[in-house]
Amino acid sequence: MKNIHVLFTMAFFVCLFICRVKLLDNGLARKPPMGWMSWGYYRCGVDCDENPGKCLDEYLILSVADTIYNEGYQEAGFEYIIIDDCWSEHERDSHGRLVADRSRFPHGMKYISDYIHAKGLKFGMYTNVADVTCMIYPGSKGYFGIDAMTFAEWGIDYLKVDGCFASESFLNTAYIKFGRYLNKTERPIVYSCSWPFYIQFIHHNKPNYAQISSHCNLWRNYLDIENSWQAVRNTIKFYQNNYPEISKYHGPGQWNDPDMLIFGTGVLTEGQSRLHLAVYAMLSAPLLLSCDMNKLTAYEKKLLLNMDLIAVGQDPLGVMARPYDLPHSITLWVKRHLPMKGDKYYSFSFALVNMETGEATVSFTPGDYGLESVDGYSVMDVFSGKFLDNVTLTNRITVTVPSQDVMMYTLYAL
Ligand code: GLA
Repeated sequence: MKNIHVLFTMAFFVCLFICRVKLLDNGLARKPPMGWMSWGYYRCGVDCDENPGKCLDEYLILSVADTIYNEGYQEAGFEYIIIDDCWSEHERDSHGRLVADRSRFPHGMKYISDYIHAKGLKFGMYTNVADVTCMIYPGSKGYFGIDAMTFAEWGIDYLKVDGCFASESFLNTAYIKFGRYLNKTERPIVYSCSWPFYIQFIHHNKPNYAQISSHCNLWRNYLDIENSWQAVRNTIKFYQNNYPEISKYHGPGQWNDPDMLIFGTGVLTEGQSRLHLAVYAMLSAPLLLSCDMNKLTAYEKKLLLNMDLIAVGQDPLGVMARPYDLPHSITLWVKRHLPMKGDKYYSFSFALVNMETGEATVSFTPGDYGLESVDGYSVMDVFSGKFLDNVTLTNRITVTVPSQDVMMYTLYAL
């Protein structure tokens, strides 16, 4: 009898351990989320009379849904429409619930959610773990349970939880607690955390990625992206330099998040746009646009709807590409992905990235980077969709990469 008791106690603790470790096994975000988020372009768009072109309101969100639905973005995989900071009234209601800004969101958030869902798209929102958000709207501290229920009742599918104005120790408990409250709602809600960014850049400590990745579906590692080439460059450099640490925690259901794409803001050349999207796809990063959807150029749209490129970013294995330094400051990013030939030979994508000014010519042997099929590989130029000459494991390839641009190839095992 005593033995059975001991056994039950042991089983209880083993289960407790496993359940805790597997806390965020919510089955969501098996591929990096794709969609649109308001912050990068619309910021705290509350001055609608003075600045109607940057107004964060119901009309904007519904029209983004319409464009994604009508213009092929949804078919390409863009599905989450996420309202960032500055969506609420400054006061909670008498039940302590958050209230959407009454003039900018006159029908409330459930109305927006229903509109988005009716198009087969998904809806995301934003809060902060502290008393207030980064832009000083009500935060969720002291209200995790109520807010999780409110968001679930509004039918959200994704929640970005920010970490402004929180101490390090609070961040380390709050994100775990908030995640539990989200789970309790029983609504599937992708959980996006800004946790590691605040640990590293505000509290100057090392993020515990093992812990973060067991509680969040995605997490911001680095500074907010700005609408400039320099910001894209710095962001990519961060992922390149931190590859050994952060790639370990990256994969289906748990993603490093380099922040939004800056397409549609008019600041990138065609080459820089190619580079931006190619590296994000190679990283298996979330692909979240943040722009006036009407301002995407024809060329940007073509890139966003290039299914050979999107397929690399949305590959089910979710491997983060590995960077290698080649001569002339070229970085060769290499990513293993599907489809496979039989159960043995993976496909690979190679992106030769030139973030400097001036073109550079480099040579490399694809066979040195994990390829194994002795029958060789077919080679597709991802931007033109054209097939080039096949390669064997020993062929050396010479490529000229234009200034601040990328050449990208997908190799399929023969
Ligand atoms: C922080 C986040 C941004 C955005 C703003 C909103 O800066 O990192 O992505 O959410 O807050 O205030």
